[in-house]
Amino acid sequence: MEASKLKLTDEFMPAKINRDNLKKIYEGKAKILYEFSGEEDKKDLLLTYFKDDATAFNGQKKGTIVKKGEYNNAISSSLFKLLKNKGINSHFIEKISEREMLTYHLKMLPIEFIVRNIAAGSLAKKMGVEEGVKFLSPVVELCFKSDELGDPMINKTYLKAFDICDPANAAKAEDIALNINEILSKFFDDNNIIVVDFKLEFGLYKNEVMLADEITPDSMRLWDKQTMEKVDKDRFRRDLGKVEEAYQRIVEITSKY
Ligand SMILES: Nc1ncnc2c1ncn2[C@@H]1O[C@H](COP(=O)(O)OP(=O)(O)OP(=O)(O)O)[C@@H](O)[C@H]1O
Ligand SMILES: [Mg+2]
Repeated sequence: MEASKLKLTDEFMPAKINRDNLKKIYEGKAKILYEFSGEEDKKDLLLTYFKDDATAFNGQKKGTIVKKGEYNNAISSSLFKLLKNKGINSHFIEKISEREMLTYHLKMLPIEFIVRNIAAGSLAKKMGVEEGVKFLSPVVELCFKSDELGDPMINKTYLKAFDICDPANAAKAEDIALNINEILSKFFDDNNIIVVDFKLEFGLYKNEVMLADEITPDSMRLWDKQTMEKVDKDRFRRDLGKVEEAYQRIVEITSKY
């Protein structure tokens, strides 16, 4: 059954969540995942908690951004809803509190899909182009998720060679990522913001490739269309100040969803 056809929403309102059964299964740099231990009807679900912790440069720089967890939960929830309205399924079910969302528990593809429209960060350096140069068409990079290895960039031939995932599923994810790029670029453009690049993660739910994780200023580069000012985590990475204000602006823009 397709996830979109599951009618779960009414059953899982906050009051119905028994916090005594929450079992932490993973704590990452930005989020904590909980299972609903012993609850048969929620065995395919997760509760995702968004933290204020911020890291950069593969964890070398650490800090906190006040209320980032609230902002990122709000932004992700809104963008997953926006995408759903445009026909893109995701793991998102419901925002259940300021910092928590209910999602499907997916079997993750251990890959980051990075979509880039404009040169910035590592790609600008690698290709020897100025930050801000617009590409003739979007670039998609695949990185193998491994903290020890520093998430190395791979290509499609690695997928089978290193038994990373079924190449057909990665191809589907890449198609969805490019579709998402069109939707988000248009949405943010209408709100005076340029989508420079962003990172997505996908997983399998009942063998269907589905968008997962988060879509937030942690995982995107967003620039003001007029001033080219950064409205994303680069403000933290590069000590540019007004970090919270940047996240708040994205909360405001996305809050109509
Ligand atoms: N629906 C889902 N089902 C299962 N796992 C998920 C789902 N959505 C996201 N994840 C995984 O949950 C984790 C989220 O935690 P967080 O983003 O804090 O990790 P991280 O420290 O940034 O490390 P990573 O480099 O793995 O993202 C990630 O490993 C992500 O792949
Ligand atoms: Mg992450």
